[in-house]
This record gives sequence, structure tokens and C-alpha cells, in this order.
Amino acid sequence: MSRIVYFDNNATTRVAPEVTEAMLPFLGEMYGNPSSMHAFGGAVAKHLDRAREEVAAFLNAEPEEIVFTSCATESDNTAIRGVAAFNGPGTKIITTKVEHPAVLNTCRYLKGRGYEVAELGVDSLGRLDLDELREELKGTNKALVSVMWANNETGVIFPVEEVAEICREYGATFHTDAVQVAGKVPVDVKKTPVDLLAMSGHKFHAPKGVGLLYVRKGSYFQPLMLGGHQERGLRAGTENVPYIVGLAKACELARKHMAEDEGRIAQMRDKLEAGILAACPDTIVNGDRENRLPGTLNVAFKYIEGEAIAYHLSDLGICISTGSACASGSLDPSHVIRAMGVPFVAVHGSVRFSLSRYNTMDEVEYVIENVPKVVKKLRDLSPFGPETKVSTYE
Ligand SMILES: Cc1ncc(COP(=O)(O)O)c(C=O)c1O
Repeated sequence: MSRIVYFDNNATTRVAPEVTEAMLPFLGEMYGNPSSMHAFGGAVAKHLDRAREEVAAFLNAEPEEIVFTSCATESDNTAIRGVAAFNGPGTKIITTKVEHPAVLNTCRYLKGRGYEVAELGVDSLGRLDLDELREELKGTNKALVSVMWANNETGVIFPVEEVAEICREYGATFHTDAVQVAGKVPVDVKKTPVDLLAMSGHKFHAPKGVGLLYVRKGSYFQPLMLGGHQERGLRAGTENVPYIVGLAKACELARKHMAEDEGRIAQMRDKLEAGILAACPDTIVNGDRENRLPGTLNVAFKYIEGEAIAYHLSDLGICISTGSACASGSLDPSHVIRAMGVPFVAVHGSVRFSLSRYNTMDEVEYVIENVPKVVKKLRDLSPFGPETKVSTYE
């Protein structure tokens, strides 16, 4: 396979060369422990402080509100399980049916262990109903709300600012999984009063294995990781300095280039969408096209299987995915697309294309040229068609 066209950037991204370069000294000569008493460790601690300042600036937060973790799954678990443990059984947890498993499975774990859990639905465009949220919050005491900022499968952006205001009104703690907006949409925690927010380095050109939890001053939770005093006792364990420095560099690059990158990425996505829709009949776009991430396109090709499309495109060097990478390995259709009530003949044929600043128009053209051929080939073999009456999901 000579050519790789990587359109799976919501699963993970390429590490920016500037990020690798920034990390190298900390994989080499600057190996001191930032918690050590000696000057050799102290020099590394200064870089850790600088990284914290850069990450805080990226979110318009204070440095002492940033807790470094190993990934967003850890950040989500720390926030949800930590608040639940701090508030105690009886706490109501409100989330959505379309969260990433890092949130959904954590909430479901707590259900039945003394916690009441409500999952909010979405409409056919993947949008939330804020009245449903208000209804669930009525009469609660110390509730925890976990609503993602943008969906990883459809790219649909939720109204987190309004969710945050509603949570304040009802005295609920608000956690948001902001993994998919990192580096794509400005995040300002002064403007959007979330209490806890999770991000992951590998979704915006830092390496895998580093994440962060933003903790607003005055928010309380029971730490998940117990041990040393690192991260002000909120996340024990020696900090992964090389990766944290890389994360800070990715934040710096995102701050500098976000506006320009995202305009170009949206142009590529729109061209891809128009090209696919023009060449493939019986194809629909999943999610709210007016309010989604610039690089995400989720398409349902009726009468065929998304896995088969992804598999055939992979033979041509084109990398895409069906649903969340974390849910792959299961043949069940995506929980997100199903929550939107997409009909049976389309739900199975849903695939996601996700672009980054490293993609080009030339790659978009290559994909537009090949997707219709693969779709036609699979439809010629499919037992389903416009006359199909089976509709178990409708
Ligand atoms: C919305 C969302 N939340 C959480 C995660 C988990 O992130 P990590 O791989 O850093 O644990 C992902 C990864 O796909 C995601 O898309």
C-alpha cells in the first residue's frame, strides 16, 4: 500500500513535529523528577510550571485549576466517580445517551451502586432538549451533570454554555467531556462556566498517554488516584513531564493556528460532503449540519454495512471509521446513531470521515473518487434495497 489518506482524526491525530521537538529534551538529558529537592529536578519543575501556564491560557483558566492525567478516560472517571464519591450515594447523575463510553460506562457503573442515573435523549439531528435537562434537575440536591461539548461520531456541538447556566440555576456540578473540541473550537472557561472539563492530548496533535482535567476553584471531588502529593493531591503519581510539555506545545499551536486551520478544514469537509452526496444516491448526512465540528462528516449509506465500506477503503489506503474506535470490535450499530432514530436501512451503513490540518484537497479528491466505487460494488452485492421492508430500529 503506497498511499495513506488519514481521515480518522477523531480517533487520534498525528503528533505535530513541533510537539516532538519540544518533548525531546525531557526524554533525554532533562530527566529529573519535578518533585525532587535538588536543582536538577527543580529545573524540570520550572518547565512543568510553564506547561501548566500554557495549558491554562489555552482554556482561559488559572494554572492551579489544571490537573494533568494520562488520558481523557482517566479525566472523565476522576470527575464523575470523584464527584459521586464526594457527594455520596443518593446523588443524581444526569448524562446523555450519546456520550463516549468513557462517560457512559462510568455513569452506568454508578447506577445501581446507590446513584440515580438519567440519560437524556437527542432528536433526529443529534441535538439535546434542554427542557428535558431542566425536568431531570427539578427537585435534585447536589446533582452531577455530564454533557459532552461535541460528539465524537457526528461532530454535533452541544449548547454547553446554556447547560452550564442551567446547572448553576439548580446548584448542580457540571462536567463536560471536551475531547473533540480541543484545538477546533475556542474553549474559554470564564465564558462557559463549567466546573470540570476533560481533554486528551492525542486528539489534537500531542501524543497518546496524556490528558487534563480542568477543575474550577471551589469544585470538590474525591481523587481517584491516591498516593503522593502531585497535582495538589488531586492526581497522585509522578507527572509525565515529556508528554505534558508536548501537550502544552499542542495547546500553543492550536491557539496560534485554530482560526485559520479550521476554515481550511471546513472547506475540505464541505467539498468531501458535496462530492459524496452528488455521486452516491440513497445517502444521508447524520447530525446537525448547521452546528458541528468543522472536520467531521458522518454519512449513512443506505442498504450496506459501514464496516464493509471501511474495510474496502482501507485496501485503498483510506482510513475512516464506523462509530467510536473504543466501541469497535462490536458489530452492534453505533449507540449515537441509534439514539438519533436513524432508520434500520441506514444505521448500519453509517461511517465517519474526520479531517485535520495535515489533510489536503488532493486527498479529498482521492476519497471522492473512490467512495462511490466502493459503495456501488457493495450495493450490487447487498440483499437490501429501496424495497426493503425490515425496519427494526424505526
Ligand atoms: C468524546 C471522547 N471522550 C473520551 C475519549 C477517550 O479519550 P482517551 O483516548 O484520551 O482516553 C474519546 C476518544 O475517542 C472521545 O472521543
